[in-house]
Amino acid sequence: YNLPKNSLSILEELKSLNISEEIENIVIIGIGGSSLGIKAINSLLKHKKESRRELLFLENSDPIDISTTLSKLKRENSLFIVISKSGSTIETTSIFKKVIEYFNLNLEGEDRDRILTITDKDSSLSKFSKEYQIREFNIPFNVGGRFSVLSAVGIVPLSLVGYDVKSILEGAEQFLESFFKKEEKHLLEKAYYYYKNSDKYPISVLFSYSNLLENFNKWFVQLWGESLGKVNKKGKSVGLTPIGIIGSIDQHSFLQLLIEGPKDKRVTFIKIEDFENDLTIPNITLKDIEKTNFVNGKTFNRLINSQCDATMESLIKSDVPCDIISIDKLTPKNIGELIIYFELLTSLVGAMFDINTYNQPGVELGKTILREKF
Ligand code: PA5
Repeated sequence: YNLPKNSLSILEELKSLNISEEIENIVIIGIGGSSLGIKAINSLLKHKKESRRELLFLENSDPIDISTTLSKLKRENSLFIVISKSGSTIETTSIFKKVIEYFNLNLEGEDRDRILTITDKDSSLSKFSKEYQIREFNIPFNVGGRFSVLSAVGIVPLSLVGYDVKSILEGAEQFLESFFKKEEKHLLEKAYYYYKNSDKYPISVLFSYSNLLENFNKWFVQLWGESLGKVNKKGKSVGLTPIGIIGSIDQHSFLQLLIEGPKDKRVTFIKIEDFENDLTIPNITLKDIEKTNFVNGKTFNRLINSQCDATMESLIKSDVPCDIISIDKLTPKNIGELIIYFELLTSLVGAMFDINTYNQPGVELGKTILREKF
């Protein structure tokens, strides 16, 4: 709850970092909570970005993806940000080793400035950073990976590519304040609905009407799935299965299942009222396809939002519970608000489920098996 305020000091710290003007690529080496939130915000703001710096991601142990991304990079204009709360995630450390080898980085000398680390104080990555005098930022101990985008994890890379991070933090802080002033009761009501109806509606669908929200959907899937899928204090497995889909594209795929399939899903729509883009459907009549003329001369902005409204109405008529989050514009402030909205909602549902929302004991077994069998 303190991140939006506390993270402002990171912005000050960054001013003294003096990253060379030559740096064009900020390369994130991290996975899960150490990459998804950054990706989500980057995708939402990229079309407005003025700086020439780009964010690139090295996340997965997929050899083709790693090779392709590496082949796009030049050592002299890249800054590598290694992000890992634990400091020892196998994908992150393996890819970091590859980067060191690929660019023949001299960690004892001139190349230490090409690397930044973001990790817990006292993690193995932190010890490594101190050993090689690499610049390090820390994640507060009580902030888990998937809740960390408003900590140094998101603030450092997003600032370095030139986004208005201060406004993101301010948007988050304003929503937090109004929530704790009990002015956002809808959030409690929504959380209670999820909790109360978790047997009837075990699937939570996020139907986001813009391609720009695709990575936000992925961030939500991690937040909701990893936080709420737990054994509660009475020994019962609880959780809500998150699904992220994109409108209007998934009207041509998943919608049929929503309308006629099992009534086990609750749907939240996200709609951007003003895309700040007036691209228009031309006033052209195509022979034999005249029935599509009703949209002629109208903007795509209006079309996509009318599709969102029509789909929601069709779901309500089919007895599927829905709600809608309407964003006026994609501004940094609104994005901060959206992030904290979902973090609060997740925390509330977790509290009602009587679970530890912030840990992930279930993912350890696979890691142990990998270590034993590799
Ligand atoms: O939310 C979480 O805690 C996880 O998804 C982690 O972010 C993910 O496993 C990566 O961990 P780390 O940041 O320690 O490398």
